[in-house]
Amino acid sequence: MWYFVAPQVVFGEDALSHLAQLNGQSAFIVTDKNIVRLGLVDKVKEQLAQAGITTAGVFDEVEPDPSLHTVEKGVAVMNRYGPDLVVAVGGGSVMDAAKAMRVQYERPDMKPEEINPFVSGLGLGARCKLVCVATTSGTGAEATFAIVLTDAREQRKLSLINREIVPDIAIVDPELARGMPPGMTADTGMDALTHAIEGYTCDWKNDFSDGLCIKAIQLVFQYLPRAVRDGDDREAREKMHNAACMAGIGFINSLTAMAHAAGHSLGALFHVPHGRAVGLLLPYTIEFIGELREELWAEIAYAIKLEVPKGKTAAATLAQAIRDLSRSISQPLSIKETGIPLDSFNKAMGKLIDNLMADGSLIVSARIPSVAETERFFGYTYEGKSIDF
Ligand SMILES: [Fe+2]
Repeated sequence: MWYFVAPQVVFGEDALSHLAQLNGQSAFIVTDKNIVRLGLVDKVKEQLAQAGITTAGVFDEVEPDPSLHTVEKGVAVMNRYGPDLVVAVGGGSVMDAAKAMRVQYERPDMKPEEINPFVSGLGLGARCKLVCVATTSGTGAEATFAIVLTDAREQRKLSLINREIVPDIAIVDPELARGMPPGMTADTGMDALTHAIEGYTCDWKNDFSDGLCIKAIQLVFQYLPRAVRDGDDREAREKMHNAACMAGIGFINSLTAMAHAAGHSLGALFHVPHGRAVGLLLPYTIEFIGELREELWAEIAYAIKLEVPKGKTAAATLAQAIRDLSRSISQPLSIKETGIPLDSFNKAMGKLIDNLMADGSLIVSARIPSVAETERFFGYTYEGKSIDF
C-alpha cells in the first residue's frame, strides 16, 4: 500500500487571483525582505482583500537556509495575531519555514524537529490553512510535505517529512517567478531537475511519481536555458514553474537520493545554494550508481531524445548531458568551481562524510557508499573527475 499526496494546485497565468476566492478572516504572511521589495507581498494582500481577508501580520525575516530559531520567532509573532490563514510567499526557504511555523502554531506541544514520517494524526487544518505562493521555480516546496531547516548549532540540516504537513493550496503563477535573476533561475532549475531525476530513479519510485518526474525532466531540458537567457520569456517561465511543482510532487511521493544527501552535507558546511549544490553533484551520483540503474538512465535519455553512442553507457551519456546543460547556464561543474578553497574543504571532510551518511535521502539511493567511498566521492567531485569506482 502506498499513498500519493499533493495539495490543490492552481497554475498558469493569473493563478494568484485564486486568493480572491478563499474563505477566511485573517491572514498571516510569511516571506523575506526581497519579496517585499519586489512588491509581491502587496499583490498578495490585494487579492486577499478582495476575498474580505485582512492581512493581520507579515513576517519577512526568513533567511536562506532558515534556522530553527527563525521558525520559533515567526511562531511567536503568529501567535499574537491568531490567523486562520497562513500564506507563504517566496522560495523554498520561505515556504519551508512557513510549513514549520504552521505546525508549531497548530501543535504548540510539538517541536519542529519531532516531525517525522511515523507520527500521524497531527490534526492540522483545524486552526488555520496553509497556502504556498511560489516565487522561484525549483524546490517544489509549495507542493511537498518536507521541510529542510538548519540547525545552526550542530552545523547540519534537518529534513523533516510527514504527509500531513502538505500545504492546502499551491499557487503556481509564472508571473511571480519573473523577478528571478539568471543565477537564481539556474540554481533553482537545477534543483527541479535533480528532484525529477532522483524521484525517477530512487528505490521508492512508483508509477504515480514516475509520470510527473519524467515530464518535469523533459521540461527542464527544454526550457531552463531559455528561462536563464531571457527572464521575460513567458513560455519558458511558465514551463519551468510547472516543471518545478511537478518535480516537487513527483519526488516527495517517491524521494530524493544521494545527490541530495551530498548536497545537504555540502550546503550545511559551505552555504552553497541548494540547487547549485545538488545540480553539480547529480551527474557524479549517476556515474556512481551507474549500471544499477542503467535501464532507467536509458529511459530518461530516450525521453529527452539523447542518443546513447555505441560503447557508452546511458549513465555516462546522461551525466554528460547534465554537465552540458549546467555549463550552458553558467553553473559550476565541480566543487572547486564553487570557490571553496581546497584546504577548508579537506578540513571539513570528516563532517562532510558524517552528514552525508546520516542524511535521510541516502536510504533510498540505489547504491549506498561506504565511508571510504564517500571520501573518494567528495575528492572526485571537488576536482571535477568523473566517478570511475
Ligand atoms: Fe532539492
